[in-house]
Amino acid sequence: MNIRTKLLITFGVVVAVPLFLISLVFFGFMSMQPAEVATPQIREFLGEMLVSVILIMAMTCSFLMAWIYRSILTPIETLKKATRNIRDGNLDFEVEIGDDDEIGELCADFEEMRIRLKESTEEKVVFDSQNKELISNISHDLKTPITAVKGYVEGLLDGVADTPEKQKKYLRTIYNKANDMDRLINELTFYSKIDTNRIPYTFNKINVKEYFDDCFEDIGMEMSQQQISLSYDNKVAPDVMVIADAEQIKRVINNIVGNSVKYMDKPDKSIAIRVMDVGDFVQVEIEDNGRGIAAKDLPYIFDRFYRTDTSRNSSKGGSGIGLSIVHKVMEDHGGKVWATSREGEGTTMYFVLRKYQEVPANE
Ligand SMILES: Nc1ncnc2c1ncn2[C@@H]1O[C@H](COP(=O)(O)OP(=O)(O)OP(=O)(O)O)[C@@H](O)[C@H]1O
Ligand SMILES: [Mg+2]
Repeated sequence: MNIRTKLLITFGVVVAVPLFLISLVFFGFMSMQPAEVATPQIREFLGEMLVSVILIMAMTCSFLMAWIYRSILTPIETLKKATRNIRDGNLDFEVEIGDDDEIGELCADFEEMRIRLKESTEEKVVFDSQNKELISNISHDLKTPITAVKGYVEGLLDGVADTPEKQKKYLRTIYNKANDMDRLINELTFYSKIDTNRIPYTFNKINVKEYFDDCFEDIGMEMSQQQISLSYDNKVAPDVMVIADAEQIKRVINNIVGNSVKYMDKPDKSIAIRVMDVGDFVQVEIEDNGRGIAAKDLPYIFDRFYRTDTSRNSSKGGSGIGLSIVHKVMEDHGGKVWATSREGEGTTMYFVLRKYQEVPANE
C-alpha cells in the first residue's frame, strides 16, 4: 500500500470517527421524549458518551500515529544513519528495506547506491595499486636500458672502444637501447590515451594481401636476425579490403609477435603466421612454439596489468599492458582478439577484422 493511500485512509478515519460518534450522540439525544430532557440520567449518559468519545479518539489517534511513525519515521531514521555512515566514509553496512511503498523504494535505491559506491571505491583502490605497480615496473624497465647506455657511453669516453668497429658496435647498442626506451614511452603514452578514450585513429581502406605481405616481410627480417624461423601464409584473395588504421594494426601485430619472441623458451624457435578468409571476416593467426600459457591464466591475459609471471626480477620484464592495448584496438575496429594455448607447447593468437563490402551506387 502506498503512502498516499495510507494518508487518505488516515484522513478518512480521523474525520469519520468523530463524526460518527457525534451523530450517535445527536440522534440519541433527539430520539428522547421532551419530558426526559436534561434529567440526571441524560446528563450521566452524555457524560459517559463524552468520555467514550475522548477515549475512542485517543485510541484511534495513537493507533494512526504509531502506524505513520512505523512506516515513515523509522525508515527515515535508518536513511539518516546510512547517510551519516557514507559521510564518514563507512560503506560496510546494509540499509533495511521495509514496506513495499515509496519510502521502501527510496530505501532500496539508497541501498543500491551504497553497493555501487562501495564497488567503485574498491575498484579505485585496485586501480590505484595497479597504477603504483605500473610506475614501479616502468622505472624498472627504463632503468635497465639507461644503465646499459651509460655503460657504453663511458666505454666510448674512456677509450675502451679503441677500434672503429668496436665504436660502431657500441653506438649501435646505444641506438638499440634508445629505441627500446622510445618504444616503451610510446606504449605508455598510447596506454594513457586508451584510458581516456583519446586514441587518434585514422581509418582507411586497406588491401589485406598487400598490407600483411609488407608487414610480415619487415617482421621476417627482424626474426631472421634473432634466429627465429617465420612462416607466412596469406590465403586472402588479392582484392579483399578492410577498413582499419594501418598503424594501430601494426601495433597489434608487433605486440603479439613481441610476446611470441619474449616468451620463447625452445632452442628451435618458430613463429607461423596465417591470414585466412573466414566469410565476412579476415582472420589472422600468429602461432608460436614458446612456453605457452596455463589454462588458469588464459582468460585474463587481455586484462590490463595481467602478467602470468608477476616477479619483476624475471628476465622478461614488461608491464602487462601489451595485450590490453591489443584488445582495445581490436574492439575499436569492431573486431575481436582471442588466444588458445598449451602450457609448455606454445600459443596461438587470433584476431579478426570485418571485410569491407562495397555498396553498389544504385542501392
Ligand atoms: N605468446 C605468449 N606466450 C606465452 N605467454 C604469453 C604470450 N603472450 C602473452 N603471454 C602472457 O600474457 C601476459 C600478458 O601479456 P602482455 O603482452 O599484456 O604483457 P607483458 O608482455 O607481460 O608486458 P608488456 O607487453 O606490457 O611489455 C604476459 O605476461 C605473459 O605471461
Ligand atoms: Mg607483451
